[in-house]
Amino acid sequence: MKIYICQNYEEMSAHAADLIAGQIKEKPDSVLGLATGSSPIGLYKELVARNQKGEISFKNIKTVNLDEYCGLTADNDQSYAYFMNQNLFNHVDIDKANTNLPDGTNPDAAAECARYDALIESLGGIDIQLLGIGLNGHIGFNEPSDTISLGTNHVALTQSTFEANARFFASIDDVPRYAYSMGCGSILNAKKILLVANGKGKAEILEKSFFGPVTSQVPASLLRLVSDKVYIFADKEAGALLLENHPEEVIVL
Ligand code: GLP
Repeated sequence: MKIYICQNYEEMSAHAADLIAGQIKEKPDSVLGLATGSSPIGLYKELVARNQKGEISFKNIKTVNLDEYCGLTADNDQSYAYFMNQNLFNHVDIDKANTNLPDGTNPDAAAECARYDALIESLGGIDIQLLGIGLNGHIGFNEPSDTISLGTNHVALTQSTFEANARFFASIDDVPRYAYSMGCGSILNAKKILLVANGKGKAEILEKSFFGPVTSQVPASLLRLVSDKVYIFADKEAGALLLENHPEEVIVL
């Protein structure tokens, strides 16, 4: 596992974007696993700028997103489909037919999970998976649990995630309680994994995930099972405890 501490959010975003841009240059028809949340927004801005400068092309890129809220249509401005269009897909030369998210409007959870797993398999797996991290260590919407879901799953969001996500909604009553999430197995099977984390709120969970026990109670800790292909980019605030308590294990950029 490589853990990089960057000076600020902009530098974190630029360094993380280098990894994705490198993947696109190396394999122009890569399958990118994408994430939502506030953490990757700067990274997406970087990718848009590089696409507009002609440095990278998304023409043959395929994408699979980690997750989607249940009950929200793609045109709802809180859906992850909407987020991806606004932050990336509308601004780059991607063919939207090649972009994929779980369908939050499918009420048949078993069918939707099976469809999404079959889709990931039909694409030949994921070349690089981008992740944020929840305050409780969730990746995608794989919440702390006694069990590990390998495939796509229908998740009841924990109270902590529900409250963290409420900031984006006009009213608490609008915040979905359920989501579809790509499973931990699909994430760990990606050929490379890139996690971005910024802000002091993430400092404790980063230390717990990467230096505490490997446990399904801290889903991000499972990344250590495949540590050779994992790259963590944190800004100084999120990386503060890593730098303070594990200085030998981090690379300061
Ligand atoms: C949501 C998403 C996650 C994301 C997390 C952290 O719960 N499902 O994929 O990593 O929030 O979000 P943020 O980056 O805004 O802290």
